[in-house]
Amino acid sequence: MIKTDVCFEEMTQREIIQYMDETVKPEEGVIPAYIMGDPAIYDLEHKKVFLKTWLFLGHESEIQNNGDFITRDLAGYSVIISRGEDGVIRGFYNMCTHRGMKLCRADKGNKGRFTCPYHGFTFKNNGDLIGVPMQKDIYGGNLDYKSMGLHKVTIEIYKGLIFGTWNENPEPLSEFLGDFKWYIDLAVGRTEMEVIGPPQRFVINSQWKIGADNFVSDSYHTMVTHGSIAKLGMVPSAQYSKKGYQVNTENGHGCNVGMPNPLFAFPEELIPEYKANLSADQFEVLSNLKNLIGTIFPNLSFLVSHTEVKGQAVSNTTVRLWRPIAVDKMEVITWFLVEKNASEDWKRRSREAFILTFSPSGIFEQDDTEVFTDITAAATGQVPLSKNFNYNYTMGQHRVPVQDFAGPGTVYDDKFSEANSRNFYRYWLDLMKA
Ligand SMILES: [Fe+2]
Repeated sequence: MIKTDVCFEEMTQREIIQYMDETVKPEEGVIPAYIMGDPAIYDLEHKKVFLKTWLFLGHESEIQNNGDFITRDLAGYSVIISRGEDGVIRGFYNMCTHRGMKLCRADKGNKGRFTCPYHGFTFKNNGDLIGVPMQKDIYGGNLDYKSMGLHKVTIEIYKGLIFGTWNENPEPLSEFLGDFKWYIDLAVGRTEMEVIGPPQRFVINSQWKIGADNFVSDSYHTMVTHGSIAKLGMVPSAQYSKKGYQVNTENGHGCNVGMPNPLFAFPEELIPEYKANLSADQFEVLSNLKNLIGTIFPNLSFLVSHTEVKGQAVSNTTVRLWRPIAVDKMEVITWFLVEKNASEDWKRRSREAFILTFSPSGIFEQDDTEVFTDITAAATGQVPLSKNFNYNYTMGQHRVPVQDFAGPGTVYDDKFSEANSRNFYRYWLDLMKA
């Protein structure tokens, strides 16, 4: 029997974790509302999840040329991702090592060196300190440049996706992604992809996990939340999103593979490239793909969506970050990706399809953000905690995984299931307890 009138402010961190262990029961489909809206959980999550796992920073194509850089957020801290004169991509804490000023305040650009706006210390884009104003006079030529290079940030890249971590001893990115790479390949590794334009950003009054959860598992909501899409004739029926597979792998990752699709929703002239980059099984799935929606734990989601725009079938590919800003606020950052070797006409149509569906002006995006903000409001603060309000995540518990799907992981034949959410929260809880 779970007691009510719990108050985290009167509990130690150990007691809060103990309480979570008793009340968050992913396997039973019981997820308490308080994990979406309690500030103590949010603070703990920062330390136990966001400072420990790999987090997405950007795409290689954003810094294609030597000297290109971007500044990005890594768990609340600004980092510089820069391609050096040697072509190597490196990550640095965006802080001058002299007095701690933010070294670079631009979102992106091309620079061989960064000069601090406070005292003019200058660093090469490989992190080395190379210039200090009047150093011979004021330091007597004794300043130890070698020890004052920029603080390095651990980064690794998979299929163009750049991840970073604050973890001193992380498992290799490739191992963290594990079996889920099979599906990531379909989304962003099927051929050389490039980001078009700067990523779109908008801030909404939503807890970050609601977005991650929606993309990892929730095909069911499409029927109702996005019902207007079917009415507009952009998809064949309201149950369009049910057919296909739900897949989850270790470390909380999961996706929904919508298929079959009688139309090939990718540029046909790139079929030889797809075949060269994918296994025969992966190509078979791509050929029949209607959509692919998933989340790489904790907060990077991806979407390959097939839409008919003005009578023409076209796919669009995006990755999106649910970046926590506060317990009840997140920035949504979306990168639009397209096949680099597709025709300009394809790229334009694919981008149009993206803007019409997902993006602040898109139909799907506006539907979802309405829901996310209302869930957040209802979950925030003391009442959901002290009244012990729970969500029901039992959908699909009666189903048995199928063995005849070509891809790895635990696979269910039907996208209307909450198995992926149960897998997501299991891993989340394991990290929170660690
Ligand atoms: Fe949605």
